[in-house]
Amino acid sequence: MSVTSIILSTGSYLPERILTNAELEKMVDTTDEWITQRSGIKQRHIAAENETTGDMAVKAARKAMEAANLSPDDIDGVIVATTTPDRTFPSVAVKVQGDLDIKPGLAFDVQAVCTGFVYALTVADNFIKMGQAKNILVIGAEKMSSVVDWTDRTTCVLFADGAGAVVLQAKENNDGLKGQGIHSTHLYANGKQREMLQTSGGVSSTGDNGTIEMQGREVFKYAVSYMSEVVGEVLEHNNITPDAIDWLVPHQANIRIIESTAKKLHMSMDQVVVTVDHHGNTSAASIPLALDEAVRDGKIKRDQMLLIEAMGGGLTWGAALVRF
Ligand code: ACO
Repeated sequence: MSVTSIILSTGSYLPERILTNAELEKMVDTTDEWITQRSGIKQRHIAAENETTGDMAVKAARKAMEAANLSPDDIDGVIVATTTPDRTFPSVAVKVQGDLDIKPGLAFDVQAVCTGFVYALTVADNFIKMGQAKNILVIGAEKMSSVVDWTDRTTCVLFADGAGAVVLQAKENNDGLKGQGIHSTHLYANGKQREMLQTSGGVSSTGDNGTIEMQGREVFKYAVSYMSEVVGEVLEHNNITPDAIDWLVPHQANIRIIESTAKKLHMSMDQVVVTVDHHGNTSAASIPLALDEAVRDGKIKRDQMLLIEAMGGGLTWGAALVRF
């Protein structure tokens, strides 16, 4: 008998304001054609000035809890993946816990930039497998617009805001890979590559948040090779072939990176959840946002096998094999 963590429910929130490529053409020297060809992005959501990452995280978490039909007293922990917290401290997770009247329990943030959700999912899964929690809210939430230099055309056309959440629940599984749950997680970082994608400042260096600095071409190159390596590792570790996977749920940074990972897996793009065209790159929020959209659209169904993967600043990267 072994305990696994199942994704009991999903929820998400996108800010009201939509920023189109046409509007960006008026802000910086760019074109809809360039943005679409290089990234696949057509539009993205941008939070209101007074709307914080925590506000978005609360809304996404509330939807996931409603879908799970759980009360605040059922939640043992809150883990938020974010790189754009409301404040330096306390965490976004404690805001979610407080605002949703969740009982005292573990609550903290995880920071692994765009790989943040895969890291948070792994941490929560381990708490559950150790028997230290039964139900954990795992959230990815970002206000990337607050760290974008809106005069830098190489980055401002890519990033966006939003939040996604899942409730992970402990469940016995005696069916191996046939049973629902998180079957394996794989996390990596290479700190020697941290300057490839970073903010220009921070609390203990410049005293401000800084804005995004990215060596786009280099990051792209490593994203393609790390994603290819890590999905290969997931297959090997679980002793499966790509035909065992129903859906690829990738971090939504760039359609070309997503297509190259699908190609490596010999998967048709019909089996890939793509939201980058209308969500942009929402960093740690992108996977739970994509997951929620695909679940609510009826694309992803119960008992299907999902391969989740992400790559981001650090550089960090990771993947998870999950039977939904
Ligand atoms: N509009 C028009 N032209 C532009 C724009 C723009 N918005 N931005 C850059 N250009 C120009 C460049 O100046 C360059 O011109 P030059 O040839 O005269 O020098 C040309 O377009 C090509 O630029 P590249 O950077 O080589 O373009 P590339 O094809 O690499 O695409 C992109 C750029 C979209 C950023 C791509 O490199 C990419 O997606 N990189 C990875 C991003 C990523 O995945 N990040 C990881 C996650 S994010 C996180 O963790 C926070």
